[in-house]
Amino acid sequence: MKTIIEPFKIKSVEPIRFTTRPEREGILAAAGYNPFLIHADDVMIDLLTDSGTSAMSANQWAGIMKGDESYAGSKSFYAFESKVKEITGLKNIIPTHQGRAAEKILFSILGGKGKYFAANTFFDTTRANIEYTGAEAYDFLTEVGKHPEQRADFKGDMDLASLEVFIKEKDPENIPLVMLTITNNSGGGQPVSMKNIEETSLLCKKYGIPLYIDACRFAENAWFIKKREKGYADFSVPDICRKMFSFCHGATMSAKKDALVNIGGFLALNDQELALQCRNLLIVTEGFPTYGGLAGRDLEAIAIGLDEVMDEHYLQYRVRSVEYLGEKLIAAGVPIIEPPGGHAIYIDAKRFLPEVPPNQYPGQSIVCALYLEGGVRSVEIGSVMFGKYTADGQLLSPPMELVRLAIPRRVYTQSHVDYLLEVVIEVYNNRNTLGGYTITWEAPILRHFTARFKPL
Ligand code: F0G
Repeated sequence: MKTIIEPFKIKSVEPIRFTTRPEREGILAAAGYNPFLIHADDVMIDLLTDSGTSAMSANQWAGIMKGDESYAGSKSFYAFESKVKEITGLKNIIPTHQGRAAEKILFSILGGKGKYFAANTFFDTTRANIEYTGAEAYDFLTEVGKHPEQRADFKGDMDLASLEVFIKEKDPENIPLVMLTITNNSGGGQPVSMKNIEETSLLCKKYGIPLYIDACRFAENAWFIKKREKGYADFSVPDICRKMFSFCHGATMSAKKDALVNIGGFLALNDQELALQCRNLLIVTEGFPTYGGLAGRDLEAIAIGLDEVMDEHYLQYRVRSVEYLGEKLIAAGVPIIEPPGGHAIYIDAKRFLPEVPPNQYPGQSIVCALYLEGGVRSVEIGSVMFGKYTADGQLLSPPMELVRLAIPRRVYTQSHVDYLLEVVIEVYNNRNTLGGYTITWEAPILRHFTARFKPL
């Protein structure tokens, strides 16, 4: 087996601005120790997110020029619509400017007080869009998915036994839909098996509840099914995708991930009546149903990206480069969620900094240290992102304290990854010098984006 190479050549490059450690100390303090508030130009390797950060292909840029900007009935809309239909088999395809806009529309209609939603794990914007309506969101992740150190092939699976108890307790009448996030971003970018998708759909069917897929990273999930699940080695990726979606009634998608574009998303669903309501709301909040908050050129680039993302050479390189990073970190003793996920490595901050309690935000401490050490920007996924307060002001922490190193698609080369490894390992080896943080200001919802911190 020869080295797996990046399956592309580079035609256009963006320079990286180099900074020194003293410069970064000033920059981080000015940003309130929140890397979301740092200027991107002050970052050397940006792993804040894999969302909207993909490098588009020459073909996608050509599509940008070909985009049809007609207000209604744009040719680019039909190219987009037919590609999404081909992959998902779903009937009504509604473009939105990004994933959360699709969530906002769907949950504004289905949510409200007294409604309950369940998922393997809701992503933070999905949960926020549900809770914003007064409804409640519950996660039922398979037990092994909650243990960062335990290896399993499909740690994103739904825990079906607990889901069934929940459905009976809340009454199916009050549960407008169940959702599977593939891959499970907040739980480590871990895939969901075809078997679990099918079994979740059967359980939902038994109680008459529609199953939706949060499809942001559907192609990475399909690749894991091909590589890990018995019986799928000889399936093509598009066939696996079609089969995954055949079990659902609808999907939301942020095209900023597995459509290899910088902006875009969609809501896709079979229910005609609900689709009509969604389109009406779309017109109020996003735009006419054939553009939904996007330019025609964006729709064109999405249609092309959705094909490119299912290419096997691309997916092999994509998943392998994340795995390479993970393997080297594990070899150096750095605790991460095992096995590595599809789009990111998740450092287990509880094991990395056992002396720093959750209410001193160990993940944030690592995030800051990575920036100071090497200009690397990462994100905390733990008590900062998901922490809530009890009535008397005590912090309620989520089960895991993580730091995500999200890998943009087709952006960084192997030597960037090798540099990153040096930075993370250096921080790990000096971990006894790291302390906790406290929050000095926070917003009432989605606080991680704008909160300000100070070192303790
Ligand atoms: N669902 C999942 C699983 C996501 O990962 C995201 C975004 C969304 C929905 C919302 O999509 O950003 O287009 O509105 N995740 C990004 C991330 C922000 O960094 O993981 P959006």
